[in-house]
Amino acid sequence: MSALVVTGTDTGAGKTLVTAAIAAALRARGMSIGVAKPAETGCPRRADGLYPEDAATLAAAAAVWSPASPASPVSSAAAPVARAAASGIDDDTATVEPLDAVCPYRFPDPLAPMLAAARVGTTIDVDALVRTLTARAVAVDILLIEGAGGVLVPLTPAATYADLARMLDAPVLLVVGSRLGAINHALLSLEALRTRAVRVLGYVVNRLAPAGDLAVDTNTDLLRGLTADRFLGELPHLTDVAETLRALRAGGAAAHAARTRLAALASAHIGLDALVAAAHRRA
Ligand SMILES: Nc1ncnc2c1ncn2[C@@H]1O[C@H](COP(=O)(O)OP(=O)(O)O)[C@@H](O)[C@H]1O
Ligand SMILES: [Mg+2]
Repeated sequence: MSALVVTGTDTGAGKTLVTAAIAAALRARGMSIGVAKPAETGCPRRADGLYPEDAATLAAAAAVWSPASPASPVSSAAAPVARAAASGIDDDTATVEPLDAVCPYRFPDPLAPMLAAARVGTTIDVDALVRTLTARAVAVDILLIEGAGGVLVPLTPAATYADLARMLDAPVLLVVGSRLGAINHALLSLEALRTRAVRVLGYVVNRLAPAGDLAVDTNTDLLRGLTADRFLGELPHLTDVAETLRALRAGGAAAHAARTRLAALASAHIGLDALVAAAHRRA
């Protein structure tokens, strides 16, 4: 059992892409993967409710959910394989979880979860989140938890994502969205985690611009020289991120191809062995 909180230097840093790629790669290695997006904001309203796109992306990457799976909680009486078959997932050992379990808090406004919750007259119960995430982590080899925005984004007036990681006793993986300004954001994030006694598993640099961008071309070496934190890899700039993630969520053969592509991407560019070893090491 282990949980890993994936945070970023900012919103749009590449947390969902990196988390999805890691989930797909570890899944392809035969590990049982859980995914969570505890709070998602900016969810569009659909006929069946607020749609958490990040949560759906992660669940599809880990093959724990497909669009054909039931929206309501799956009967615990059904065996996982039967449930997977019923959901249309073409993977014998896939388990199916309702999106509600992956993303218990969904809000329409694209704001920090604390404020997005307040604007619909509710609050986030962080203690309850910690209990359910801990229980879910026990059931899998690794539970990948995507934050929202960056480390100090508030879930409540008293709890940020850094606090959530500490309460879960989970290490944090920082996704550095590489662009001009990323060095400052990365060093601030790492320092904030350290001063709050959160274990930093390492960081992955995600190239948000194509080669030829001077900042992006130099950020990784500069960051590696300035911090002793573990560098776990660098994802190249890709021209088809949106299409790949959309294909993943669509299900079927296209999703299978997208999952394969993401798994190959993570295997080629992220130090997965070091990541898994560090995630399972107790503090
Ligand atoms: N490696 C990359 N190459 C090209 N575009 C990227 C890359 N990573 C992220 N993006 C772009 O940035 C957007 C935000 O990425 P996402 O993973 O959703 O960030 P976050 O989850 O941190 O908000 C993606 O939809 C994509 O358009
Ligand atoms: Mg995201």
